[in-house]
Amino acid sequence: MCKQCKGNYYITTPIYYPSSNLHIGHAYCTVATDAMARYKRLQGYNVKFLTGTDEHGQKIEDKAKEAGLTPQQFVDNIVLGERGVLDLWKLMNISYDRFIRTTDDYHVAAIQKIFKKMYDNGDIYKGAYRGKYCKPCESFWTESQLKDGKCPDCGREVMDAEEEAYFFRLSKYADRIQDLLENTDFLEPRSRVNEMVNNFIKPGLEDLCVSRTSFTWGVPVDFDPGHVVYVWIDALFNYMTALGFENDKYDDLKDFWPADVHFVGKEIVRFHSIIWPAMLMSLDLPLPKKVYGHGWLNFNGEKMSKSRGNVVDPYLLSERFGVDALRFFLLRTFPFGSDGNFTNELLINTINVDLANVLGNLVSRTTAMNQKYFGGVLAEGGEAAELDNELKALAEDVVANYEKQMDKFQFSNALAEVFRLLDRANKYIDETTPWILAKSEDTKPRLNTVMKNLCEAIRISAILICPFMPDSSKAILDLLQVAEADRVWDARNYRVDTAWTTSTGAALFPRIDMEKELAALEELSKPAKPAIEIEPYSEEKVDFDTFCKSDFRAVKVKDCKNVKKSDKLLQFTLDDGTGVDRQILSGIAKFYKPEELIGKTLVA
Ligand code: MSP
Repeated sequence: MCKQCKGNYYITTPIYYPSSNLHIGHAYCTVATDAMARYKRLQGYNVKFLTGTDEHGQKIEDKAKEAGLTPQQFVDNIVLGERGVLDLWKLMNISYDRFIRTTDDYHVAAIQKIFKKMYDNGDIYKGAYRGKYCKPCESFWTESQLKDGKCPDCGREVMDAEEEAYFFRLSKYADRIQDLLENTDFLEPRSRVNEMVNNFIKPGLEDLCVSRTSFTWGVPVDFDPGHVVYVWIDALFNYMTALGFENDKYDDLKDFWPADVHFVGKEIVRFHSIIWPAMLMSLDLPLPKKVYGHGWLNFNGEKMSKSRGNVVDPYLLSERFGVDALRFFLLRTFPFGSDGNFTNELLINTINVDLANVLGNLVSRTTAMNQKYFGGVLAEGGEAAELDNELKALAEDVVANYEKQMDKFQFSNALAEVFRLLDRANKYIDETTPWILAKSEDTKPRLNTVMKNLCEAIRISAILICPFMPDSSKAILDLLQVAEADRVWDARNYRVDTAWTTSTGAALFPRIDMEKELAALEELSKPAKPAIEIEPYSEEKVDFDTFCKSDFRAVKVKDCKNVKKSDKLLQFTLDDGTGVDRQILSGIAKFYKPEELIGKTLVA
């Protein structure tokens, strides 16, 4: 730990399945983790923020096959490709310190050692697995755990599974886990504890199947060829291998383990609060200090999922509203521990009310008045009136409450506190009526004090919103020309004696026309139509005359790519000998990969 740091802080997000592009529901947890990491850094902690991708498992193997790619090519596309996972985190301004991919060599080798250690200590043994398997969730279930015969997590069909497999002695740890959940703050919110204890521990924890032989895309069990390690062992230990556990790639374990908190979605709380601590107990390792199970975002009342076609695209939303507004909306609107319902109306309304009317308006009114009445320069000194003291007291109360709420991961409450201060500052303008004070030279000193109080309330608010809207916070502090030393957490005290020089700028958050924007969003969410309609492939034979009238040419494929949102069409750029490139679409995407066709001579 560095000398001037307050301490180390290790926070993680779940590592994402790169099975298809991420939606706004996935971004929710990462934005929350980012806000927390930025808050801790602001306070002076030495933060390690880990995220990454969980790249093994049957689902990925199957999807890669469907796409005609190797599993590694498939995951590389989704993680590294255009608009992939890394691009998304860049767009959303996610300040992660480390990114792990479970296909990284150091992680794979570490997982093999970890598996062997649990085998050697007797906690992993060989048996036969008979039961049910949910492929999309990569979860094994016993009959009694199924809900109406279906997967209790996602409600989908499960399949029979029987194979030779290794098991982890989860049952051995049942009492210790129950004690951990019931008698400590390990798992929050508290409601999730009852869920875990009543649904999983009390009915009897069974040993867990931890290897598979029916597919190969996983970490091989090195002492028993044919077996691959169960994807959740591979996934959960990422939190430690990314710090250097059982590998030489990193050396951060002593500084950052145990983790301060794992943020996870509610459906994977079971893995993090039962299986994860049990495996750590098996290896005699310290447990993370906390697991926080956040709620799910639905869209218009329905589950967000690509297959339902209601995915909320973070790229589209960021382009239209700005990344900060989107980040703000996610954390201001939905209490972190509960489910929330995302609608476009709610998003636009939040931007208009909170950001345009309250925050944006306060900043633009204050800076415009500073300019108009003082040329942007406020003198130091001045006496505080009762109204000023009230504003100051409220600001101090807001800072204290904000900190309490942030420390409990109650982001929406923390932001509500900031808006208490912003609302009060807007009201302070109406109460002090600067435009009347400006009318006489006698009241100019009072006006100077009023404007300084407004600047100070804005400065403090800008520090508090920094973890949520880093760019907007900076823009506001730049307008107020706040020195670097006065932008930090330790400068959160309300001070009115200082001088100010402020600038003016364009509106930070322009108001959005709700009706027009909703119509535009609806239009944009319709599936894209191909530029050229093509005839469906037909078995029908053509007669000789039609054949004679047809123009067949040898063409060279200069470029070929998939058509967005179509699994049938390829778009070709062809050299047909005329000297002008020709564009055509062809419905052969199911049979050929575009890269196989580039450079080939075809008949068109
Ligand atoms: N790979 C596992 C996690 C392994 S961690 C050791 C996984 N991946 S996931 O991509 O399916 O989900 C990643 C996270 O996104 C989970 O925490 C999940 O809860 C979250 N969400 C997915 N859809 C969501 C919403 N609609 N709303 C909120 N969170 C959502 O699970």
